[in-house]
Amino acid sequence: MTAICPGSFDPVTHGHLDIIRRAAALFSDVIVAVGRNSAKNYLFDTDERIELLRAATADILGVRVLALHGLLVDFAAVHGASVVVKGIRFASDFDFELQMAHINGIVGGIETVMLPASSAWSTLSSTMIREVASYGGDVSSFVPALVAERIAATVTPGAKERNDG
Ligand code: PNS
Repeated sequence: MTAICPGSFDPVTHGHLDIIRRAAALFSDVIVAVGRNSAKNYLFDTDERIELLRAATADILGVRVLALHGLLVDFAAVHGASVVVKGIRFASDFDFELQMAHINGIVGGIETVMLPASSAWSTLSSTMIREVASYGGDVSSFVPALVAERIAATVTPGAKERNDG
């Protein structure tokens, strides 16, 4: 059975990788679908997020990483997937994901499986990582080494303070 792990993954974190690994243990074929949320300011463009995810998931059997354009239910139909896997950290994640699960179920007939985030990563978010990284802070505890290196090469330390005035 094919399952989709959708997200923007900017950047991919140990929390994401934990959910992808657990999805791969449950489903024989897992597509990590890398999309854009128009409400977010991204650190990495889609191609770079895909490249980093491919490197970070290379050791997980049965995982593919593809770009997501348009509606998730249309992507699922094209790829023969009937399940979406989402990681849930707090109640606010659940409230949002429940709405998405209902819409995606009604519009596209796809099922949503919610996995509780592992305790080690239960409050981690890419948004926080982008914030810390933008001030030149050390995010290496939260992301794969390659991602930490890429962030260090991308973010100019001090640039944010200067822009903040
Ligand atoms: O949780 P994220 O990282 O903000 O997720 C981003 C993304 C692109 C995966 C999400 O916004 C998405 O699924 N977009 C596709 C459009 C869609 O199908 N939306 C759900 C119906 S409202």
